[in-house]
Amino acid sequence: MTQPIRVGFALTGSFCTFARALTAINDLVARGFDVTSILSENAGAFDTRFGTAKEWRTRLTEATGKPIIDSIVTAEPIGPKAMFDALIVAPCTGNTLAKLAHGVTDTPVTMAVKSHLRGARPVLLAVSTNDALSGSAANIGTLLNRKHFYFVPLRQDAPTAKPCSLVADMVQIPATLEAALHGYQLQPLLLAPNEG
Ligand SMILES: Cc1cc2nc3c(=O)[nH]c(=O)nc-3n(C[C@H](O)[C@H](O)[C@H](O)COP(=O)(O)O)c2cc1C
Repeated sequence: MTQPIRVGFALTGSFCTFARALTAINDLVARGFDVTSILSENAGAFDTRFGTAKEWRTRLTEATGKPIIDSIVTAEPIGPKAMFDALIVAPCTGNTLAKLAHGVTDTPVTMAVKSHLRGARPVLLAVSTNDALSGSAANIGTLLNRKHFYFVPLRQDAPTAKPCSLVADMVQIPATLEAALHGYQLQPLLLAPNEG
């Protein structure tokens, strides 16, 4: 019997996309992936209009059947123990993009990525930030050019109302993962914009 593919699924503080991330986790579990969730400190602590931290923690634990990695200390063994075949950061905030682009490791998620990359395994980013085409653009460009990083295809979600915003299409996470595990970037990377 073949072993299931082990995936770390890290959520950062783009709370409006948490429901879509949970759907993606459920989808991966249904497809037979072994999924462990990871939370940035902010993602795991803030109560927002999209739900309380406690509610999201319960949903994630139920979806994966595993404890959440939610500290730098519990994220540290990811690389040394080769815990995951791939690591997905979905949603990935502008804040986390900046840290990843500049080698800053001060959250459970940035620690997870750094530790996982020790083994030269794929990292997927599902960007969700209002400043993707302004303040975060240079960081996205940096990571597009960095080895082992793959992007979940993304689009302008509201080009008129939020001209600098980009959001990944999380429905494409399984296809992006499949491609990344074979060493290539799923295309097209840029999707047609939403209306509005
Ligand atoms: C309700 C709410 C929604 C947010 N949505 C986003 C978002 O979609 N994208 C983003 O980059 N930051 C968003 N933020 C800001 C981040 O949560 C903030 O930058 C935080 O420091 C991110 O930390 P992390 O990247 O370690 O999770 C939001 C904050 C709140 C309170």
